[in-house]
Amino acid sequence: MTDWRLEIEQRVRGEHQRDAPLAPRTAVRIGGPADLLVKPADPDALAELLRAVRELSVPLNVLGGGANTLVADAGVRGVVVRLPPDLAPEAAAGETLVLCAGAPTTRLWIRAHALGLVGIEFVAGIPGTLGGATAMNAGTRIGEMKDVVRRVELATADGAGFVDAAALRFGYRSATLPPGAVVTRVEFSLRRGDVAESERIMQEDRARRRATQPYDRPTFGSTFTNPPGEYAGRLIEAVGLKGHRIGDAVWSPMHANFVSNLGRARAADVLALMNLARGRVRERFGIVLETEVRLVGAFAPGELGELGLVHAA
Ligand code: EPU
Repeated sequence: MTDWRLEIEQRVRGEHQRDAPLAPRTAVRIGGPADLLVKPADPDALAELLRAVRELSVPLNVLGGGANTLVADAGVRGVVVRLPPDLAPEAAAGETLVLCAGAPTTRLWIRAHALGLVGIEFVAGIPGTLGGATAMNAGTRIGEMKDVVRRVELATADGAGFVDAAALRFGYRSATLPPGAVVTRVEFSLRRGDVAESERIMQEDRARRRATQPYDRPTFGSTFTNPPGEYAGRLIEAVGLKGHRIGDAVWSPMHANFVSNLGRARAADVLALMNLARGRVRERFGIVLETEVRLVGAFAPGELGELGLVHAA
């Protein structure tokens, strides 16, 4: 058997770490190690990585800022790639801004405001990276990525280029990337406006979230998407699970659609909470809760329970 890790380390310029712990790289601080974590030095190194994993048939996962992500206790087989925040050049012209996928979401409003551009107020409520937020069409009640993303630069083993946002088929907290493609830059279409007013809206949104969402403990944010015309938090509370604890994972007493990690929670504990809530809500209301958190890594089918149906891929 070839030593695929050695081959990738030799071919791909950048930082490599074997058996890299992923828990500290996720917002909820849960999960086992990646066989190989790679931070490519530049776009050519990323292209080489994409060619190498294809040739070697090694699975590849992209880790953004670790928000909205639950990594399996057994970790992630193959390569996990983390893009540096400055992989490629940024650009700004008129009301258009091009930023790197590996940059934190805060970069969007900092750059926009510096240029007198607005329309990005919702991003105050979104953690993680711009690439991750784009790849799932992250959003809040006041807006979502699809409102401002015009084009996306994709890297594949066969080359890189910008595609129209329409190619990503944005939905509610979802987008579809071509298989094996990695978002490397995002082009935003913004508008000139009142930056002070934009800042005020963001402050207000932050204050509201601080009052209603539990950020005193590690969490990945909303666990399930809101079903049409309903709220996952309301439903989980209605079936008596608000504050329910399994191991060190708990449905937050502050917001029932948030799982808090009380210390040493395992992915298995979180999945048990999710399966319990999903089962009870379906029984009582006939509503199937859909998973918003991205499940990454080597979950056993039994461990996923009903959630396996949602994340069969
Ligand atoms: N509710 C309950 N019990 C709870 C929690 C909520 O009854 O324990 C009720 C609230 O009273 C309210 C309704 O459910 O009537 C909605 O709750 P909330 O206003 O807190 O918003 P949300 O729908 O739960 C959504 C996004 C959040 C975003 C907020 C604010 C989804 C799945 N979640 O939450 O996004 O921050 O609106 O814009 O769309 C995320 O996606 O990770 C996220 C945090």
